[in-house]
Amino acid sequence: MDSFSLKSKTAVLTGAARGLGLAFAQVLAEAGANIAVLDVIQPDAALQQLEEKHHVRVRYHKTDVTSRDEVMDAIAKIEEELGEIHINVNAAGVVTDEPFLTTSDRNLERTFAVNFTGSFLVAQACANSMVRRWERNGKRSQPDEGTSNGCIVFITSIATHIASCAQQISCYTASKAAVRGLVKPLAMELSKYGIRVNSLSPGYMMTDMMRGLQTQQPQLVAQFEKETLFGRIGFPHELQGALLFLCSQASGWYTGQDLLVDGGASLWKHPAPL
Ligand SMILES: NC(=O)c1ccc[n+]([C@@H]2O[C@H](COP(=O)([O-])OP(=O)(O)OC[C@H]3O[C@@H](n4cnc5c(N)ncnc54)[C@H](O)[C@@H]3O)[C@@H](O)[C@H]2O)c1
Repeated sequence: MDSFSLKSKTAVLTGAARGLGLAFAQVLAEAGANIAVLDVIQPDAALQQLEEKHHVRVRYHKTDVTSRDEVMDAIAKIEEELGEIHINVNAAGVVTDEPFLTTSDRNLERTFAVNFTGSFLVAQACANSMVRRWERNGKRSQPDEGTSNGCIVFITSIATHIASCAQQISCYTASKAAVRGLVKPLAMELSKYGIRVNSLSPGYMMTDMMRGLQTQQPQLVAQFEKETLFGRIGFPHELQGALLFLCSQASGWYTGQDLLVDGGASLWKHPAPL
C-alpha cells in the first residue's frame, strides 16, 4: 500500500487561491486527490492546471468562510460534484500588524471571523460530510483496515509558539491559538467516526501575505531571515511534505497534535534587538 496515495479522495481546502493553500492543493492533487477550493479571490491559474497535470478534478467555489450559509452551500455543491469529503485543510487567513494598545475593533472582529470562525465552520461542515459516509459505511471507524475515514488539518502559526520582536500581531496570534485550541477536543470527539484532527504551524514563509507585511515593514523579512537557522525565509513547497503526511495514511496513528515546521526559528534564543 502506498501510504501517501490519495487517489480518488476528495479534499476541501480554504484559502487555496494562492500562497500556502495553493501549494497544499498542488501536493494533494499530485497524490491523486480531487480538489475543491473555497476562497474569496479568483484563484491563480496554477490551480485549474492541476486537472490536466495530475488527472484529477478541480473545483473553485467563491466562498467567504465567515458565512455559514455560503459554507453550507459550497459543501453541498462539492458533495454533488466530487462526492464524499475525505480531507479538509483550513488555510484561509488574514493578518494585520497593529499595536495591542490601539488595536481596532475591525481588526479584532475580522481576524477572529476569518481565522477562527471560518476554520470552525468549514471543519464542522466537512466533518458532518465525513460522518455521513461513516453512517453509510455501516459505522465502521476504519472502513479499510488501517485507513482513516477522514482528516482535518488546521493551519496555525509559529506565532502561537514564539513571539517575534518584528511584529505586533496579538489579534492574529490569539486567533491562531484559538484554532489550535480546537485540535485536541475535535480529535477526541471525532475519533469514534475515524476522523483525525491535527494542525500545521508554519514558520516564516514567502507568500503574498508575507510580501504584504514586507511592504508595510521593510525590515521584517531581514529580521525573519536572521531568526531561522538557514538564514532565509521558507518557500511554500517546503511545507508540502508535512501537509501530505498529515492528510494521508502515512500519519494514520497521528491525531490531536500540532506539527511545527519553521526552519528551526523557534528552537533557539534569538539575540535581543539593540
Ligand atoms: N506566510 C507565512 O509566513 C505564514 C506563517 C504562518 C502561518 N501562515 C498561515 O498560513 C495560511 C496561508 O497564508 P498565506 O501566507 O498563504 O496567506 P495569503 O494571504 O497568501 O493567502 C490567504 C488566502 O486566504 C484567503 N482568504 C482570506 N479571507 C478569506 C475569507 N473570508 N474566505 C475565504 N478565503 C479567504 C485569501 O483570499 C487568500 O487566498 C494563513 O492562515 C496564515 O495565517 C502563514
